[in-house]
Amino acid sequence: MINNKFDDNTIIEKVENNFNYSCKSIQKNQMIKKSIYSKIYSGILDNNELVCIKTINRQFLTLIEYNMFYNEIQINQMLKSYNHDNIINYKGYSCSKNYIDLIFELGNNTLDDLIMNNPLEIQNNFKKYIIEILTGLKFLHDKNIIHGDIKGDNILIINNKIKICDFGISIINNNNNNKLLNHIGTHPYIAPEVIKDLTISCKSDMWAFGALLYKIINNGYDIQFTIKNENNIKKLINYCGEWNDLLEKCLKINPDERISSEKALEYVRLKYEANI
Ligand SMILES: Nc1ncnc2c1ncn2[C@@H]1O[C@H](COP(=O)(O)OP(=O)(O)OP(=O)(O)O)[C@@H](O)[C@H]1O
Ligand SMILES: [Mg+2]
Repeated sequence: MINNKFDDNTIIEKVENNFNYSCKSIQKNQMIKKSIYSKIYSGILDNNELVCIKTINRQFLTLIEYNMFYNEIQINQMLKSYNHDNIINYKGYSCSKNYIDLIFELGNNTLDDLIMNNPLEIQNNFKKYIIEILTGLKFLHDKNIIHGDIKGDNILIINNKIKICDFGISIINNNNNNKLLNHIGTHPYIAPEVIKDLTISCKSDMWAFGALLYKIINNGYDIQFTIKNENNIKKLINYCGEWNDLLEKCLKINPDERISSEKALEYVRLKYEANI
């Protein structure tokens, strides 16, 4: 029998605690996205607050998937107490017989939406966005959280501010010796060490950040993830102008040689100040 961590009675109690008021109804409106495990809706709470609802149909989940969502809730719960500017604001969850609903503040666009549909907006806010992504990442890494799936789809822009979201496959860093059970993440954002032997660390997020930076600079074109040697990577990023240097530091095959979020943030801030 499945170990049901989402026992209905416990959850109702937790919803009230999480929302800081007694939320009696959550109304789902428009569906925004549909993925393998979840559906994302815009919606409204009974205090008229507009929210995003990530709904998971619990009927067809395997135990592993079940635990993944439990993990997602726990990480969001932990992050909620810090209320960081560049992390999506999680409000709580609700659970019924068939569904688990995770409630978040509602975003308008993902970074990928902007890269594809509004490149001018990206151009105008480029350094601000890069600094805010790195600020969010540094915060997560300082708290020992590996995001595990950094990409433009998991970065929202709300009121012109970057908000990292989707902690679905995030894990707590365990002395830099974390082994995944199976492949997770998204090509080409999965770091070489994850592909090679499923070892993941905060540095794996920095590879993903490098791949994202490459995509932003190259008008939506992804780096080729089959590229396994550093010389080829160097040749590719040679065309990335003033951001070559940071890209090279992020896209190191060896994670020990890869730049940390702290150093990358320092690097960008210095570069930014020097340009003003
Ligand atoms: N708070 C939000 N406000 C608005 N849109 C959101 C919000 N959270 C997520 N979305 C949209 O829904 C998509 C999927 O959300 P999320 O990444 O959390 O789900 P997922 O099941 O992990 O999906 P995937 O497997 O595609 O990563 C996001 O890429 C984004 O477009
Ligand atoms: Mg996602």
